[in-house]
Amino acid sequence: MDPIINAVLKPKSIAVIGASTNPDKIGYKVVENLKNCGYQGAVYPINLEAHEIMGYKCYPSIKDVPYVVDAAVITVPAKIVPKVVQESGEKGVKGLSIISSGFSEVGDHALEDEVVRIAHEYGMRIIGPNIIGVLSNSDKMNASFTNFLPLEGKAALVSQSGALLIAMDAATYTRRVGFDKMISIGNQADLDFADLIAYLNEDENTSCITLYIEGIKDGPRFMEEARKCTKPIIALKAGTSAHGAAAAASHTGSLAGSAKVYEAAFEQAGVAQAEDLNDMFDTTLALSLQPTMKGDNLLIVTNGGGVGVLATDAAEKFGLPLKFAPEDVQAELRKHMPSFGSAKNPVDITGGAGLEGYYEGVKYSYAHPWVDGMVVLYCETSVTDPQEIAEAIYNAKNESGASGKPIAVSFIGGDRCEAAMKWLIEHDIPTYDAPDLAVKAMASLRKQDDMLKTAHNGLYKPTDVDSDLARKIIAGARAKGRDALTEVEAKNVFRAYGLPVTPTVLAHSEDEAVQLAEKIGFPVVMKIVSPDILHKSDAGAVKVNIKNEQGVRDAWKVIMENSLAYKADAEIDGVAVQEMAPWATEVIVGSVNDATFGPTVMFGLGGIFVEVMKDVTFKVAPIDEATALDMQSEIKSSKILEGARGESPRDQKALANVLAHYSFMVYDLKDEIAESDANPVIVYENGQGVAVVDARIILTKK
Ligand code: ACO
Repeated sequence: MDPIINAVLKPKSIAVIGASTNPDKIGYKVVENLKNCGYQGAVYPINLEAHEIMGYKCYPSIKDVPYVVDAAVITVPAKIVPKVVQESGEKGVKGLSIISSGFSEVGDHALEDEVVRIAHEYGMRIIGPNIIGVLSNSDKMNASFTNFLPLEGKAALVSQSGALLIAMDAATYTRRVGFDKMISIGNQADLDFADLIAYLNEDENTSCITLYIEGIKDGPRFMEEARKCTKPIIALKAGTSAHGAAAAASHTGSLAGSAKVYEAAFEQAGVAQAEDLNDMFDTTLALSLQPTMKGDNLLIVTNGGGVGVLATDAAEKFGLPLKFAPEDVQAELRKHMPSFGSAKNPVDITGGAGLEGYYEGVKYSYAHPWVDGMVVLYCETSVTDPQEIAEAIYNAKNESGASGKPIAVSFIGGDRCEAAMKWLIEHDIPTYDAPDLAVKAMASLRKQDDMLKTAHNGLYKPTDVDSDLARKIIAGARAKGRDALTEVEAKNVFRAYGLPVTPTVLAHSEDEAVQLAEKIGFPVVMKIVSPDILHKSDAGAVKVNIKNEQGVRDAWKVIMENSLAYKADAEIDGVAVQEMAPWATEVIVGSVNDATFGPTVMFGLGGIFVEVMKDVTFKVAPIDEATALDMQSEIKSSKILEGARGESPRDQKALANVLAHYSFMVYDLKDEIAESDANPVIVYENGQGVAVVDARIILTKK
């Protein structure tokens, strides 16, 4: 655990620089909150004039405090912050929470950089600036200007929005979702999400980490720390509308958007993405209290058929469809329900079910090895007491002899249910007021288990690549002043990274084109090779299915005419002659350099699927073959690859190999490749492989 970050988050002594005697000021509130929350460490208010604030002795400067000071909370106006940071450094303070606003969020980057520079000069770390402060139940510390500590619990919130943190602090009591820590990180001038994930992963009082994110500074580092984290992470990302893609030159660029890339990055790093604030609370409740679900067998026990059906629908919707329980489970459960109940799944112990039905049903099911996780539903009835049912569920689980499986509960009813739900949550059982929410919680525990497994895999790195050759080709194009490769060059780069490109050679004259076509074997395809014509088909500069010498000569003339008509002063290298790959299923593979996460790979079916339906999926590079197979199943038209309407399945394994190699190429050459497309890539029947027919690489600006 980083001792400096520890000093900011768990200080034994705190100076409040800018503490005030005026109850309306933030500098007063922070001292008041530290006093009222029962903080056990020393508090040193720093104020130029005052001698004492709320019983604490005051000092005119932090340098006058005659004791060790771990952390300083700064509440003076922005322009004074560099001075007090300097003094804190001279005093030997380890860390700073800078509450003051007026830095990069209003465009003053220079002031913010100056503050970070001074802090680092003295080995100090900063939370903020522009924050509410830091709250910790386990340390009885409210070093902030929000009035009270959150409901006690095991989650930790890291929020980029201060106002939202204040609102969530209050809402923890009404939502009954407990947090140990709440950390406002504001501008992230120094400590950022990645640092806090690393810290909280080692914090014994944190069982899951909840993030409210507006923007991530360093995407790869965020992913690296999230991947290393063994605790669940939930992220609510604000600002998910696509932007910044319009100016992109390649096909992939126009389809990417930061929201999709964030979504991919979260998934790849094992971070559960919350849909909205409600979902963030609901998922945090489940992930902070329960272990992940290790298999797909979800068993639902209910006293109501209706809520059982609603839960069944939800199970399918959230990707955890119910299966019938094995016969031995059903036989045992039938003993504890009336003859008109159902022991299948959902297990309907019926409306008359009382304590015994719930206790025995839950106890037996929870312990059965077939069951990976349970949802228990209860509709309030006149013959049962919700509190007694809650206790029966809790006792049954504890007395079942099993552990390590998740359980979630839903009570539907009135005030008596409310009280029983509160009791269950206080006893670490996530409880919701709707059946679908309990099932959704279980689905997130299942997904978390899957994501944590794959997130911990190392970064993919194939060995059959020749990056020196690729870099030489790129350097050659740059030497000629170009920022895009020709198709022949791009294909040679692709080949250097193990991609199966169709043989393509450059002809400088009509006669040479005839010779090369005869050597490759008819039929052939001919395309213009010009750094000025990237969209060759639009220029009428591509001819396919050329069957003989005369065809080559005719094509040469038409391609030249059309190219010059398209751009009269186009620089023309010649005409590429290439093998005409037999047609099969057309897909597109591409890449962009995302501003936050770096090289990102896109995949989709070609033609109408990509043009009209935008049926594509993204992953942050590099990806391994297993993730590449996931990409293929993520698109809506995945059935076409699997073999729809009597067609035989496509070679998805070979395609996964291509996607993985492609992702490594754009990752390895991220300093050189800005955007790229392999479009189309032809995918043949199972075992017949894949052919990359066209290649485009746009270079980074240097
Ligand atoms: N050392 C010690 N104390 C000093 C020093 C110094 N060098 N210089 C000034 N002070 C004292 C002042 O005398 C004053 O105390 P007093 O009331 O006894 O006179 C105290 O520090 C505060 O200084 P003020 O000039 O009165 O500043 P004020 O309290 O009005 O504002 C603040 C300071 C709160 C930092 C303000 O500049 C600010 O940034 N406000 C926004 C903070 C915020 O909202 N952050 C969260 C953003 S997230 C969200 O959106 C909710």
